Amino acid sequence: MSDLFSPVKLGAIALKNRMVMAPLTRNRSSNDGVPNDLNVTYYAQRASAGLIITEATPISAMAHGYPLLPGIYTDAQVAGWKKVTQAVHAKGGKIVIQLWHVGRISHPSLLPNQALPVAPSAIKPAGKAVTYEGLQDFVTPRALMREELPAIIQEYEHATRCALEAGFDGVEVHSANGYLLDQFLRDGTNHRDDEYGGSMENRARLLMQVVQAVVAIAGADKVGVRLSPVNPFNDMQDSNPQAMFNYVTQQLNAYKLAYLHVVEGGIHSGGETQPFDFAEMRRLCNSAYMANLAYDKARGNAAISSGHADAVAFGVPFIANPDLVERYQHDWPLNEADSNSFYGGTEKGYTDYPFYQ
Ligand code: PHB
Repeated sequence: MSDLFSPVKLGAIALKNRMVMAPLTRNRSSNDGVPNDLNVTYYAQRASAGLIITEATPISAMAHGYPLLPGIYTDAQVAGWKKVTQAVHAKGGKIVIQLWHVGRISHPSLLPNQALPVAPSAIKPAGKAVTYEGLQDFVTPRALMREELPAIIQEYEHATRCALEAGFDGVEVHSANGYLLDQFLRDGTNHRDDEYGGSMENRARLLMQVVQAVVAIAGADKVGVRLSPVNPFNDMQDSNPQAMFNYVTQQLNAYKLAYLHVVEGGIHSGGETQPFDFAEMRRLCNSAYMANLAYDKARGNAAISSGHADAVAFGVPFIANPDLVERYQHDWPLNEADSNSFYGGTEKGYTDYPFYQ
C-alpha cells in the first residue's frame, strides 16, 4: 500500500516520495527579481522533498504584487534560477516553478511607471497591498481589454521558455488564491460581458488558453495547475464554486496534465469557507491529484492510502524543517515555525532552521 514515502510519477516528473514542498512566498530575492545564493541554499536544503514547487514567481514586470519576489522573465533571473535547479538536482531533488500573475493584488508603487494593477474587471479588493513603503490601501484595478489578453498569454509562454532554460523539471500555472487567473474564474471578481466573462466556459477561457500555450512549450506531462475553489483570501468568492471548479477540472482533463494541485480550503486563516466537496473534484480529475492545506503526516498518509491524493503538499512544516521527509519517516520531533520571519528578512527563519541531530 502506498504512503507519503512511496515514489510516484506526476506526468513525466518522477518523485522519490509523495511529500511536496508547497509554493511559499518568502520575499528574499534581490529587487531586480534575481534569485541569490541564500535562495539557492534554502531550496537545496529542502531537496529531500519528492518535489519542490518554488514560491510564486512573477512572469513579467506587471505580474508583481509584493516586494523582493524572484521573477522568471529576464536573463539574469534565469541565471539565478539555474543555480537553484542545479543545487536541487545535485541533491537528487525535483523542482518546478510556479508561474504567477497577481492581477489586482498589487499596487502602482510595485509596477512599471506606477501603472494601475490589471484585472478582469475594475473591482477593488478589500484590504491592503504589501509594498516597499509598508501596507497601503488597494487601488481600483484597470479592467483588461480583450485585445490585451494575447500579450498576457505571451508572457506565460516567455516565462515557460525561461523556466525550461533555467533547468526546471516543469511548471505550475498558479490559478489560485485570488490572483489573476483565479480573478477570471470566480464571478465575484469577473463581471465581464465579453467572451471572458459570464458563463463558466467564458470565465475559464483565459486559464485554458494559458494552459494550452504553456503545454505547447513544456509538454503537458511537465505542467501542473493550482486551484483554490473556496479560498476567500484576497477578497474572493464565487456564486457556485462546486459547479465552476468541477467544470474547470473536467476541462483541464483534456490536456492530460502532470497534476492538479488543490488548495482544499482557505489560507491565511481567511475565515469561513463555502462548503465544497473535494472528493468529488478528485473523482472528476483524470490527472494526478495533489492535495494541500494543513496536512500533517497522519492526514497525508490517509489521503494517499485512501486514494484521495497522489501527492500531498506541505507548506509551513517545510519552512521550519528542511529535513521534513526524514523527520516524518522516523517520527522525529519537528521544529516550530516562526511566523515573524516568513516574509522578508535574512537567513534568520529562512536557512537557519536546524536539521535533526
Ligand atoms: C502571499 O504572499 O501571502 C501569498 C502568495 C501567493 C499565494 C498565496 C499567498 O498563492
